[in-house]
Amino acid sequence: MVKEREHMEEPVEIPLTDEVHVEPQVPVLEAHNLYHIYGSNQEDGNVVALRGLSVSIGEGEVVAVVGPSGSGKSTLLKAFGGLMKPSAGSVFLNGRNMTRITGQELVSLRQETVSFIFQEGNLLPDLNALDNVAQPLRHAGVRAREARRRAMEMLESLGIEDRARSLPATLSGGEAQRVAIGRALITDPKIILADEPTGALDPISGRRIIDLFRQLNEERGVAFLIVTHSKEISTFANRALELRDGRFIAQHGNDVDDGDLASTRELLIDDTGTMSLPPDVLATLGGPGRFDINDLSRDGISMERVLSERITVEGNVEMILAPACPACGYIYGESTEEECPSCGSSRPMVASS
Ligand SMILES: Nc1ncnc2c1ncn2[C@@H]1O[C@H](COP(=O)(O)OP(=O)(O)O)[C@@H](O)[C@H]1O
Ligand SMILES: [Mg+2]
Repeated sequence: MVKEREHMEEPVEIPLTDEVHVEPQVPVLEAHNLYHIYGSNQEDGNVVALRGLSVSIGEGEVVAVVGPSGSGKSTLLKAFGGLMKPSAGSVFLNGRNMTRITGQELVSLRQETVSFIFQEGNLLPDLNALDNVAQPLRHAGVRAREARRRAMEMLESLGIEDRARSLPATLSGGEAQRVAIGRALITDPKIILADEPTGALDPISGRRIIDLFRQLNEERGVAFLIVTHSKEISTFANRALELRDGRFIAQHGNDVDDGDLASTRELLIDDTGTMSLPPDVLATLGGPGRFDINDLSRDGISMERVLSERITVEGNVEMILAPACPACGYIYGESTEEECPSCGSSRPMVASS
């Protein structure tokens, strides 16, 4: 691509009178085709937690991630924030490929760009609230006195300055989460990655945290990626992404109810052409199978189930379900399962020999 450009003629500069040149916005966070496999020594084998996941989050955007337990939400958050290196794929933070850098460079990029808020356990138990908030600044090389001064300002802006000298164990859940927000914000991040941040709070404390997120987003333009089951968070988000089995399968508008995803769903097709159907949609279709395309246009596709058991392709080769999983080698035997019980890969059709 770059080479081609070098051979192109210099573009003629046309002076613009009253138009301002706007740089194309670099996404705050971009993930391409992420895979993550957790190795295991046990018999149940490896767990594929992310399977080709891609996403792009713009400056100041608020994105909710919804999905059942085990769908890969926490794993994707850790991969996005550089807490864990994905098995494959790349993550760009502020336009820089985080999966390609290591050591101090990676530490600095993370410090300047991203902060985490987990459901609980965000605070260091031996440090009081003030020092918990000051600590990320100390890590970034700020002197103790200055770090404490800024941490105190942060606690004041969060309305918990009177708890500055308290240890985490003596704080209420809502207070602890506000200190965690202070800790997350003190480095002035472009994006906050939050994993069920209100999950351990009572509804009132939860609502206050959400109000705080909203305020931070509106006043400071902080982007958010929030894993959540809370309808209120989804309402505040610009969009919600539905995660299943390590892939985003659908997108929803900003008023999604976790319990009723079906009514607001837009199905996603990724850049490899793959579309994963939500389980309820698959069930309505009558399960896995093969389909004829009846009608295809730029904006739509209509399909009809092929009812015969086997298909014949050119040259009269019979296609059958693969006897073994191409990913992990699992032997299907007599089973007609279409998803590998060992690694979860879908079972392809192969030519019978
Ligand atoms: N450290 C780990 N080692 C092995 N498997 C893991 C580990 N962490 C998560 N998993 C597995 O990866 C899958 C996704 O987990 P996770 O990202 O925690 O999902 P969620 O946050 O949506 O509940 C699950 O099947 C889970 O059991
Ligand atoms: Mg989780």
